[in-house]
Amino acid sequence: MKPLKRIVITGGAGHVAYSLLFKLAQGDLFGPDQPIALHIVDLPEMQKGLEGVAMELEDCAFPLLKEIKIGSDAASLFSGVHFALLLGAKPRTAGMERKDLLLDNGKIFFTQGQILNQLASRDVRVLVVGNPCNTNSLILLHNAPTLSPKQFYALTRLDQNRAVYQLATRAHANVRDVTNLTIWGNHSSTQVVDFVNAKIHGRRAADVINDRKWLEGDFFSQVQKRGSDIIKLRGKSSAASAANAIFDAMRSILEPTKQGHWFSMGVYSAGNPYGVDEDLVFSFPCRMNDKGDVEVVPNLIMDPFLKEKIAVTQKELIEERTLIADLLK
Ligand code: LMR
Repeated sequence: MKPLKRIVITGGAGHVAYSLLFKLAQGDLFGPDQPIALHIVDLPEMQKGLEGVAMELEDCAFPLLKEIKIGSDAASLFSGVHFALLLGAKPRTAGMERKDLLLDNGKIFFTQGQILNQLASRDVRVLVVGNPCNTNSLILLHNAPTLSPKQFYALTRLDQNRAVYQLATRAHANVRDVTNLTIWGNHSSTQVVDFVNAKIHGRRAADVINDRKWLEGDFFSQVQKRGSDIIKLRGKSSAASAANAIFDAMRSILEPTKQGHWFSMGVYSAGNPYGVDEDLVFSFPCRMNDKGDVEVVPNLIMDPFLKEKIAVTQKELIEERTLIADLLK
C-alpha cells in the first residue's frame, strides 16, 4: 500500500461535496491501491450535516478510506494535506453574477491561502471550485508565497464538458470524438468557448459543423449561460456535473496528457504565450509536462473573433482583481 494521501474538501456539507466524497473514498480518482484520509470542512452551523456525511462514509466501509476528520477549523484540517478541493464559498443565487460574491468569498480565500502556506504538504495541489473561482485562486496563491503558483488551479472543466456535449450532439458524434476544446479566461458569462481550435474526429470542429452563425451565436452563449440556466431551473447551482468535472480536472493533473491533446484549466498567467495579463488566474489550453507541472499549450490559432472575446474576459478578470486588490500580497 502507498503512503496515505490527505485531501481537504471545504464546503463539505454542500451538494457538490455530497456528489464527490463517496466516489473519492471509493478510490475512483487515486486508484485501488491508494489509501486516503478525508478532511471535511464546513462552517460551524453546518457541523451536524458534516457528522451525518461522516456517518454515511463510515457506513460504506470503504477499504481505502483510512481516516475521516470533520470540523470548521481550517487551521487544523488543512494541516499536511496533499490535495485541497475548495468548494466552500457562498453560492450564487438566481440573478447574481459571480463577481457579486467576490468580496465575501475573497476573505475566506485570503485566510485559507495563509493556512495552506503554513500547514499544507509542500507538494499540495489546490483546485478552486467556489466562485468566483479564478479570482479566489488568485487570492490564494498571492497569500501562499512559500508555495509555487503552479500548485493552484481554478475549475473550468465543467464549461469544457458542457461545450463538448453540445458540439458532439450537433455533429451527431460521440463525445469522445470531440477533442481539444478550450475554455479561455474566466469561469463566468464572459468565458470564451473556443470552437476554432476544437476538433471532431480530428478535423476542425468549425469545418465539420459548417455553421459559423450557430457556433458564434447559440452554441457560444448557451455554454456561457449554462450555469445560470441550471440555477434558474433547479433553484440551486450544478452539483453532480460539477463533481464530475472536478474528477475530470483532477485526472488531468495526475496523468500525463496524451500527445496532441489538452484540457482547460484556470492557471496562473505569468509567462503565458498569448500575451494575457501576467497576474491573473486565467483558463488556458493546458497539458501536464514531464516534470508533473501543468503548462499552457502554445500556438493555438487566434482568429479575430477569439481575440475580441478573450479581451472581454481578460477585462472582467482585471476588474475582479481591482475589487479585491486589498487581499493580494
Ligand atoms: C456553474 O457553472 O454551474 C457553477 O459555477 C455555478 C454558477 O454559479 O454558475
